[in-house]
Amino acid sequence: MTKVDVLLGLQWGDEGKGKVVDVLTPAYDIVARFQGGPNAGHTLEFDGKKYVLRSIPSGIFQKGQTNIIGNGVVLDPILFKEEAEALEASGIPLKQILKLSKKVHLILPTHRLLDAANEKAKGSGKIGTTGKGIGPTYTDKVSRNGLRLGDVFHNFEEKYTVARDRHAAMLAAMGENPEFSELETKWLQGIEYMKSFDIIDSEYEINNALRHNKRVLCEGAQGTLLDVDFGSYPFVTSSNTICSGACSGLGVAPNRIGEVYGIFKAYCTRVGSGPFPTELFDETGRTIRDLGHEYGAVTGRERRCGWIDLVALRYAIMINGVTQLIMMKSDVLDSFDEIKACVAYEIDGKRTDRFPFDVNTDDIKPIYETLPGWKTDMTKFNAENQLPEAFMNYINFLEKELETPITILSVGPDREQTIVRTSFRS
Ligand code: GDP
Ligand code: IMO
Ligand code: MG
Repeated sequence: MTKVDVLLGLQWGDEGKGKVVDVLTPAYDIVARFQGGPNAGHTLEFDGKKYVLRSIPSGIFQKGQTNIIGNGVVLDPILFKEEAEALEASGIPLKQILKLSKKVHLILPTHRLLDAANEKAKGSGKIGTTGKGIGPTYTDKVSRNGLRLGDVFHNFEEKYTVARDRHAAMLAAMGENPEFSELETKWLQGIEYMKSFDIIDSEYEINNALRHNKRVLCEGAQGTLLDVDFGSYPFVTSSNTICSGACSGLGVAPNRIGEVYGIFKAYCTRVGSGPFPTELFDETGRTIRDLGHEYGAVTGRERRCGWIDLVALRYAIMINGVTQLIMMKSDVLDSFDEIKACVAYEIDGKRTDRFPFDVNTDDIKPIYETLPGWKTDMTKFNAENQLPEAFMNYINFLEKELETPITILSVGPDREQTIVRTSFRS
């Protein structure tokens, strides 16, 4: 029996998960998403084309792999149909390669409206959600009011009407009476479209595959610092983005987890509200944003930028049991004279290497180490021995600080701009 490998983000999302899942897919038989929903935006580039996937796993572009959307994911039939039809139109035989768990929870039109109403009610304390109805849908799941994809085959209309009317009453109580009949029509069309996919007991599919020594890669969405338990609560998403999310979001037992690939950028970004100890408000922050094209793949929002935060990364490595690190966007720092890395925080005059409980209100001062930049264009490099010495010194410094090997380096958005080091294990 084989084990699953898990690839997940160690920062506030957008680390480059989609790109690396695509690069690693040829070594796997199955790629499975385990949490999140269309709040994700996973970008892939190859052959001069660019794709942004929201709900669909990033293993669909290589040949022969099965892709699974697991029970931990929430799907909006409207957005799923849009995304899937566009992929079908570009020649991807999606209905043959993509399977959906019966236990996926459905995002209703009224969940989106509730998301917007909740944000409005929070005023200046808003989370800055993606507005996709993620929080209200997971809330309904946990409060046992959710609608699941498998329900479409059993008294669906009745169940839908009960949920919709419940939401309409909640919206009315918040002073909102939005009109959503058009959205509802599109949503029901989306449900009909989803029925044309293979809707399965994905926990059996995955465990049977493992029994037959097939290889499974689990694709995370968002990042560890957005995890509902361990992230910068309440400025988080509503699912477990960490490694244990692969267990609950796919029905994989903890002792069936193999490699845990933790992915991070050579610096740090965040979209939406919430704390960000190493955020830069100066010219350097703007330079990182411009060079890294740091604008949200889903919402187009400007991403906040800052230096790499090793306190947060060590915490994320610990929570996830990361076995290998993958560093993205190294090329974005190619022209910098100096690179800073936050090695500890100062809180109330005391140095700490812990990510604090109250990262929101504590006055956190990052303590930086400064390293020389490599001042070399690395975007054409594809082998470890081409990397400049100053860059290798930076990598060695990070590996020592993080006590984990960095086995893949990304030097550009394209599939080809990837350096797999000899230390990589799959
Ligand atoms: P994800 O949500 O983790 O899949 O990441 P996103 O797709 O939201 O954001 C990553 C962005 O960086 C995308 O626009 C990618 O095309 C791009 N990208 C990925 N790796 C690299 C890299 O090594 N260098 C550069 N310059 N861009 C990259
Ligand atoms: P990928 O998978 C970056 C952020 C939102 C907001 C918070 C809650 O592309 O890395 P939600 O809509 O989930 O209730 O929003 O989480 N967020 C992300 N930030 N990348 C993502 O996904 C994100 N998904 C949600 O900006 O701050
Ligand atoms: Mg993204």
